[in-house]
Amino acid sequence: MANDCFKVRPARGLKGRTTVPGDKSISHRAVMFGALGKGTTKVRGWLSAGDTEASLASVQALGVPVERVSQHELIIQGGQLLPPDGPLNLVNAGTGIRLIAGIMCGQPFESVLDGSEQLRRRPMKRILTPLQMMGANISAVNDRAPLTIKPAQLRGIKYDMPMASAQVKSAVLLAGLFARGATAVVQPGPARDHTERMLSAMGVDIVTDGNTIVLTPNGELRPMDLTVPGDISSAAFLIVAALLVPDSDVTLTGINLNKTRTGIIDVLQAMGADISVTETGLEAGEPVGEIRIKHSALKGTEVGGDVVVEMIDEFPILMVAALRAEGRTVVRDAQELRVKETDRISVMAGELAKLGAQITETADGFIIDGPQRLTAATVYGHDDHRVSMSLSVAGLVTEGETTVLDARCAGDSFPGFAETVAGLGADIHVELLQQ
Ligand code: S3P
Repeated sequence: MANDCFKVRPARGLKGRTTVPGDKSISHRAVMFGALGKGTTKVRGWLSAGDTEASLASVQALGVPVERVSQHELIIQGGQLLPPDGPLNLVNAGTGIRLIAGIMCGQPFESVLDGSEQLRRRPMKRILTPLQMMGANISAVNDRAPLTIKPAQLRGIKYDMPMASAQVKSAVLLAGLFARGATAVVQPGPARDHTERMLSAMGVDIVTDGNTIVLTPNGELRPMDLTVPGDISSAAFLIVAALLVPDSDVTLTGINLNKTRTGIIDVLQAMGADISVTETGLEAGEPVGEIRIKHSALKGTEVGGDVVVEMIDEFPILMVAALRAEGRTVVRDAQELRVKETDRISVMAGELAKLGAQITETADGFIIDGPQRLTAATVYGHDDHRVSMSLSVAGLVTEGETTVLDARCAGDSFPGFAETVAGLGADIHVELLQQ
């Protein structure tokens, strides 16, 4: 179904200071963990976006009172979950469904977790396997949502996680809160650690030693008072836009600089990007700071190994940067991209091809020889927020007017994306299409 589109024209000189909405991963966790903490949790800077609103609605459907002080400020009265009236609808939120599944497995009532057609296509075996090992009564037809969960006594396990996934790690650790004995997760690489940081701030006995995390249930969780920092994954679109558009000089403030998330900055700097990062403090136990980006001539690079998980959501926008870089960019070890909201390797390669790009897909990544000239066309966002926004940034360095169909999904993580980019001086606007 067609909906709003972005119209984008080539830009010159993006300038200014701005910020981005709150971190999506932390916003999901803030409402879910806030629901578990006994007492009043206060959250400021909360991301009100498609995905996180779905998590919030699910928590409310579990009987948790939430006062909306404003769109971005919540007061959650946590500590007791009640049986929901019907299935919980996580819409497009992969993080939402996988994390809440871990919590639901430990409840004394039945629940069904479901979502959009897109969410129903995403793999759930990755959480079903460890949760069932813990004794959970969780089932799904063909290992896809809807997930049906019935009460069961959980036991702690040691789980060697086959992929470096923060969602899987979090589902297991959250179930571990309700298990007999300690739960250990061994991750093959350093997946984002927001769950560990937040649970630790809530008084949970959770210890990280290298790539092993051990959680020992120790009673009630304390409520939180936190301000969610800006999302580096949203900032990435503005960072690449400023690097690619000539004469740009942009500063982003209040951005989460957690090391498990900043792989994109390391990789862009290796490509020759003029990016300076200044840490200014801590928010919600996470380092926060400013990022200044100046237009830069980029060169190709090789990306593989541990950094892949530290920038797993940034490959669509990296593709755009690589198209404008001099020389070859090779990405390996990124097969997880094929099971995100879409198969991001093939969807991005296919859409960018409409702008004239040539991208070689590989099983676990892609190869791009740059720089390539892009010419305007109509491209499609595939109901994948990061695809829509990456294609829009490509439009800033594409000759003619690029139309990105399916713009609305950008709001799954970055409401106000087009307005923010336009505020830096770009010619981008949202146009309403007739349905
Ligand atoms: C997330 C983890 C990542 C990431 C997603 C958010 C999280 O997924 O792609 O956008 O908040 O835990 P995986 O853990 O499945 O790699």
